[in-house]
Amino acid sequence: MDHDNFITLPYKLERSAPPFEENDIKSPENLFRHILKKYTKHDDHMFDPFAGLGTSLFVAEELNRIPFGIEAEQQKYQWVAGQLENWTHLVNDDAANLAKYDFPKMDLILTSPPYMLRNHKWNPVFGGDPKYAGYDKYLKRMGVIFGKAAPIMKKNAPLIIQVDNLTHGKIFTPLARDIANAINKNFIQTGETIVQWKIIKGEAKPKEAHTQFLIFKKR
Ligand SMILES: C[S@@+](CC[C@H](N)C(=O)[O-])C[C@H]1O[C@@H](n2cnc3c(N)ncnc32)[C@H](O)[C@@H]1O
Repeated sequence: MDHDNFITLPYKLERSAPPFEENDIKSPENLFRHILKKYTKHDDHMFDPFAGLGTSLFVAEELNRIPFGIEAEQQKYQWVAGQLENWTHLVNDDAANLAKYDFPKMDLILTSPPYMLRNHKWNPVFGGDPKYAGYDKYLKRMGVIFGKAAPIMKKNAPLIIQVDNLTHGKIFTPLARDIANAINKNFIQTGETIVQWKIIKGEAKPKEAHTQFLIFKKR
């Protein structure tokens, strides 16, 4: 399949975030709608190991795809499961434990992982546990989690990760490159698509003018 290098999508957060969460960690529905339409068909299985507020899962249901996912935070898990038709397909656990569950083979893995700045200590994939502080441990854990996801993918199923490089003051974090390197043992990158956000009058504006998603296949 050919991957687009550059696309434009309207920026809109369609499903409002719950009161306990900031809106800005939600991925815009249009992004996942575009990806699910391009890379899957009706009744395909999609898996999100960092389900968050469930955007990928809700859009998958809207498009008659079958969503599965994991979310570590109980409050988010409950909020999403409470609104999902396929709520039994969502698990409240650390994604590194995914082999414990009887997930079927997936046609697509689609996710937006928690981001981390390279000079920060607080590691979001371990809920900030000080034993696992630091960017190197964060990247290593990404390798472990995506390594566990590889066996539940059908042959030739893509893995698509929405991930942006980060600039914070003078510190630049090349997160997209570093995550691609961290999962390199199991996945080879086959493309990347830059998404330019089109601002819609009357809607919230994006923090950044663009995002990107990286496309991988299993080795
Ligand atoms: C960037 S958010 C995902 C946002 C999602 N795309 C949405 O639109 O709501 C990343 C999520 O990963 C979850 N998370 C962090 N570490 C995790 C882990 N080890 N296993 C599973 N989920 C984890 C966080 O709680 C957070 O909800």
